[in-house]
Amino acid sequence: MSSDFDIKDSIMTIHPYSPGESKIDTDFPLRQLAANEAPLGPSPKAVEAAQDSLVTANRYPDSSAAALRAKISERFGFPAENLICGAGSDELISLICAAFAEEGSEVLYSQHGFLMYKISALAAGATPVAVPETDLRMNVDNMIAALTERTRVVFVANPNNPTGSYSTGEELARLHAALPPSTLLAIDAAYSEYVDADDYSDGSDLVATHSNVMMTRTFSKLFGLAALRIGWGYASEDVIAILNRVRGPFNVSVPAQAAATAALDDWDWAMNAKELNNRLLPVVIQRIRGMGLQVYDSVGNFVLIDFGSAERSTAADAYLRSQGVIGRSVAAYGLASCLRMTIGTEADMDFIFGALERFIDSESKGA
Ligand SMILES: Cc1ncc(COP(=O)(O)O)c(C=O)c1O
Repeated sequence: MSSDFDIKDSIMTIHPYSPGESKIDTDFPLRQLAANEAPLGPSPKAVEAAQDSLVTANRYPDSSAAALRAKISERFGFPAENLICGAGSDELISLICAAFAEEGSEVLYSQHGFLMYKISALAAGATPVAVPETDLRMNVDNMIAALTERTRVVFVANPNNPTGSYSTGEELARLHAALPPSTLLAIDAAYSEYVDADDYSDGSDLVATHSNVMMTRTFSKLFGLAALRIGWGYASEDVIAILNRVRGPFNVSVPAQAAATAALDDWDWAMNAKELNNRLLPVVIQRIRGMGLQVYDSVGNFVLIDFGSAERSTAADAYLRSQGVIGRSVAAYGLASCLRMTIGTEADMDFIFGALERFIDSESKGA
């Protein structure tokens, strides 16, 4: 693309993030399983709070999101002064890169890490460095070997999207121990609420004891508030103060703050959503494996299905779409043979089992 503007070279190399689709032309009921959204929707109390907040839409939001930070503090036990809210955790990822990375510096992440790390690093003029994984899991030794004196930020999605794998608390601690105090370890725990594994850590233990660690979380997944764009981060006061310098003053809207605060009060709604996901997840993995497809272990609200080749994955995607099911191609992650599928409702998943069986059946008939 030619341009008259003198834009940073790194920005011109960005492939804009392509979101999971939400619409297709189909006669079947639409099953939106492309973006790891909450299938049961948001808490009705969160919806009511957002609606109620609209009567003061003439007023700017509370810049510091004080009420929401107080609620997060009450719910999770982290001091409110160590918290920051963002327009989705995406914004926090971007603020981290804007504040901590610069031209000539490097931003590290694991090979199949969430795409926004690369995009935000390039937007900041930094060099993104993708570190090889082992069996679609972060390899701590590889991460440590990739550190240089130019590394400013290390991103770890835990659990990771789109692989569904997680790193243990011990692995995070080992990675952190290899970092100089001037390098920020950013642990993206967008799916942490789903994880029950004993050896898992969302990174908050490291934040509590070190000034160069940040954990980010979101209301987009378990809490079903993706449309409102609201996420939060926990870090040392040092890191929070730096991020507040680059944060827009009114980055989180009034309805978003109100809904997120109410969502944390409706804990039963969130736990019900988690129960559904965690009940269906092993069933989905087992059923699809039973069809002879490779399904990676996942601790999130999605599964990664490997069809063995890009052609077969594309054909499966096309067939599922013809049946009203929108999954997610993950070719942009270098996983062209795979489709990622959000765990939907029980009815969604039952339908998908049938659709995948019909797809496999049609292949054997050479259709
Ligand atoms: C690992 C990970 N981090 C961050 C995000 C961004 O979430 P949001 O900006 O909606 O908070 C996503 C969204 O899919 C994700 O998968």
